[in-house]
Amino acid sequence: MNILIVGNGGREHALAWTLLRSPQVQQVCVAPGNGGTELMEGCENIPVGVTDFAKMKEAVRDRHIDLVVVGPEDPLAAGIADFFQAEGIAVFGPTQAAAQIESSKSWAKQLCNEAGIPTAAAATFSREHLDAALDYIANQTPPIVVKADGLAAGKGVAIASTVAEAQNTVRDFFGGKLGTAGNQVVIEEYLQGQEVSVLAITDGKTIRPLLPAQDHKPIGEGDTGDNTGGMGAYVPTPFFSSPALDTVKTEILEKAIAAMQKRGIDYRGVLYAGLIVSPQGDIKVLEFNCRFGDPETQAILPILETPLDSLMLAVTQQKLDQHPPIRWKSSSAACVVVASGGYPGSYAKGYPITGIAEAEETGALVFHAGTQIKDQQLVTSGGRVLGVTGLGDHLAIALENSYQALSKINFTNCYYRRDIGYQVLETQNSQNP
Ligand SMILES: Nc1ncnc2c1ncn2[C@@H]1O[C@H](COP(=O)(O)OP(=O)(O)O)[C@@H](O)[C@H]1O
Ligand SMILES: [Mg+2]
Repeated sequence: MNILIVGNGGREHALAWTLLRSPQVQQVCVAPGNGGTELMEGCENIPVGVTDFAKMKEAVRDRHIDLVVVGPEDPLAAGIADFFQAEGIAVFGPTQAAAQIESSKSWAKQLCNEAGIPTAAAATFSREHLDAALDYIANQTPPIVVKADGLAAGKGVAIASTVAEAQNTVRDFFGGKLGTAGNQVVIEEYLQGQEVSVLAITDGKTIRPLLPAQDHKPIGEGDTGDNTGGMGAYVPTPFFSSPALDTVKTEILEKAIAAMQKRGIDYRGVLYAGLIVSPQGDIKVLEFNCRFGDPETQAILPILETPLDSLMLAVTQQKLDQHPPIRWKSSSAACVVVASGGYPGSYAKGYPITGIAEAEETGALVFHAGTQIKDQQLVTSGGRVLGVTGLGDHLAIALENSYQALSKINFTNCYYRRDIGYQVLETQNSQNP
């Protein structure tokens, strides 16, 4: 089987690495890919933008591609699954209509309310109703969460600590700060608790949740500072017992899939529920994503034992019910993201990266994100540069292995959080003083 992966991040490198381990997979192409996928044996980068479907179609034809796997949300929201399905090519990823669960927060909120899925109380306002939005905010108790309705690459959510701040955010969004993504806003209740990501593979009928993961969004240690695409993730998370995972399946994922069926939507791909678990154990949905998470994927896939291509084919053929249960290695995995200093603000690019081979020699996996080969040298080319995944019997060991490998890697102004997994380690330390 030949596979085309769409995207250029660490997630896509991890997908390529995982799929190439399957004996059924001959060739993997990545559009456009990064330095890591370019260097990987059996893998070819195709220089084409993630929403240039016509050019991608040429590559699909020339490389005899059997399956298209879509990494990021933008091409899904632009209808890549519809496009290739119409061409008779199997696609792992939901259609444009189904991708609305991520591409419109108000659409997702309405779906939750309609299906009885627990989520933060909220109200939606469009640009024409600025005064109504400001009045609504004036009656809320801070902190107040303001979300742009559309896709905003992680920049569309503000947690305002005063009414005035929330009102100013709405003014900024309506004023065009995020382009059309901010034409509508969802104003919602602030929820407190542990964030957990539950990703599930689904063919629109059967749902197979993956192990629960925890990401670390803010740039600074102790979860401080601006939000990023994600600075590190580990799996499985002890903040989620297996009964809790069953609850997520029946009360959230199954209800979401059924509500979409009701709208005539057959969801095929990954449905990712971003959850918050209150100190009392109540689980609520913060958002849905229509694809694999980054960096959760770089932690989840290395401990997946079931061949990923067989799960993906079962999804595209709508035969997931006949697929054997998903098997896992009995270990933990932790991925620590290495970023360019300055990210998520402005940063310089083009710095040579050293020490990757030495890091890999320790047994850790190095997934590339913002890297490229320039004049035969591997250099930085983005905000999040690498994700280093360590495995171990316990989270503490997985983290130790990741950080040990990371210590070998260097480039100018490289930055990473040294406290990934701290919430678990703190809980464990307080239980075993
Ligand atoms: N209702 C909420 N209460 C508390 N924190 C929230 C709430 N909604 C979002 N957040 C925080 O903001 C982050 C981003 O919000 P999310 O809905 O996941 O949007 P996106 O990933 O599209 O930026 C979340 O990971 C969480 O930390
Ligand atoms: Mg999110």
